[in-house]
Amino acid sequence: MPDIIHLLPEYLANQIAAGEVVQRPASVVKELLENAVDAGATQVQLIVKEAGKQLVQVVDNGAGMSPTDARMSLERHATSKIRSTEDLFRIRTLGFRGEALASIAAVAQVEIRTKQREYDTGTLLLVEGSQVTSQQPTACPDGTSIAVKNLFFNVPARRNFLKSNAVEMRHILDEFQHVALANPQVAFSLYQNELEVFGLPAGKLSQRIVALLGNGYKEQLAACEEVTHSIAVKGFVGKPESSKKSRGDQFFFVNNRFIRSAYLNHAVLAAYEGLLARDTHPFYVLFLELDPKAIDINVHPTKTEIKFEDEKTVYAVVRAAVKQSLGLHNIAPSLDFDGDVNFAPIRPLRTGKGTGLVPTEADDHLPAATAADRAASSDGYRPDALAASAAAAPRRPRPACQQGHRASPALIPIPAATATSASCRRVLPSRPAGSWKLSTASWASP
Ligand SMILES: Nc1ncnc2c1ncn2[C@@H]1O[C@H](COP(=O)(O)OP(=O)(O)OP(=O)(O)O)[C@@H](O)[C@H]1O
Ligand SMILES: [Mg+2]
Repeated sequence: MPDIIHLLPEYLANQIAAGEVVQRPASVVKELLENAVDAGATQVQLIVKEAGKQLVQVVDNGAGMSPTDARMSLERHATSKIRSTEDLFRIRTLGFRGEALASIAAVAQVEIRTKQREYDTGTLLLVEGSQVTSQQPTACPDGTSIAVKNLFFNVPARRNFLKSNAVEMRHILDEFQHVALANPQVAFSLYQNELEVFGLPAGKLSQRIVALLGNGYKEQLAACEEVTHSIAVKGFVGKPESSKKSRGDQFFFVNNRFIRSAYLNHAVLAAYEGLLARDTHPFYVLFLELDPKAIDINVHPTKTEIKFEDEKTVYAVVRAAVKQSLGLHNIAPSLDFDGDVNFAPIRPLRTGKGTGLVPTEADDHLPAATAADRAASSDGYRPDALAASAAAAPRRPRPACQQGHRASPALIPIPAATATSASCRRVLPSRPAGSWKLSTASWASP
């Protein structure tokens, strides 16, 4: 029998490999936006036509590429982001595999315009189905513009698998949201069929959340922060009453990369235990910072799933962070006591960083955020304001066993003898002596 094994032609190998990275226009959006962020851009524009089927273009003002790098960027396994195996375990960039542009170029018509600041002219590259058809100098602004046209023009079967424009656009918006939430210090805009859908100025995380997801979130954000020696959790969670029937607005970022994790979602839900109406889902945007050595990003083709070296600790810290946040914002389950003694809610004396109170804000992970920024927050979000609004806001109806005098369980050690219902008592991690103090000044009991 004759030998039957042969090497695939390069264009076919590229198309097959592209299948892992590029499933739909939204995959292109993700890869191009991530490249722009990795290039240090402070302004990024996303332009889509026909839900990305006709055009996905990302224009950034980042570092740009030299003429040789522009050509190299289209090769498979060509990257500027890692050099050695050790680098794989200290990844701080979003990309590192060097295959996104090669994959995209295998299944679309691509136009790259790029210029580094120190060059007078830029480079224009045209590629079609992995074939570079033209490379020439061009006049263009600093940064990079990559236009991806007619996705899957050479793989009709895959083009036919694309869903309606509405569905594909929803996927694009999801990817845009992820990158925009993770990088509030970068200005993003999104144009759909020449209409500006989003114009997001650089700002703080709280402002970015409201600008992306709607004004309704202004009153619903509870800042969340927990820092241990191995992991930091920062961000915002929604007050329980803002939870929704749909599971939409839940975001985890690990070292600024959006990830999906049913396990960590469970940790958050565990912190909300008893607070959510049936079949509703809380909002959260949580950023986890870990030593890159403690995670493995290279376990999923689109890098949206990762492995934690010590996932139990991560779970515990996330749960504690959310629980603490709900407690500090006076929205954790209340306690009831016998008798008429009016236990006023309590406030901590400490107000320094790390107490979860004024002036700590989860925005601290932003390099640009300063104390002055916080004080001048244009969206009015401040933890102290939140505390006040928590007092003013209508309260969630509580179970009968909780409708007594109340105190935040996160803040007060409860003498067992005074608790009327063991089921309502919560045992909380001990706090340093003198940290908390009873106060009658604010947060009046209902
Ligand atoms: N917008 C951009 N600005 C500057 N350089 C870019 C840009 N996009 C791509 N590059 C350069 O091209 C290289 C290849 O990009 P590509 O997205 O294919 O791979 P990667 O980002 O290194 O890894 P991954 O495949 O995981 O995304 C990058 O490493 C980077 O050096
Ligand atoms: Mg990339």
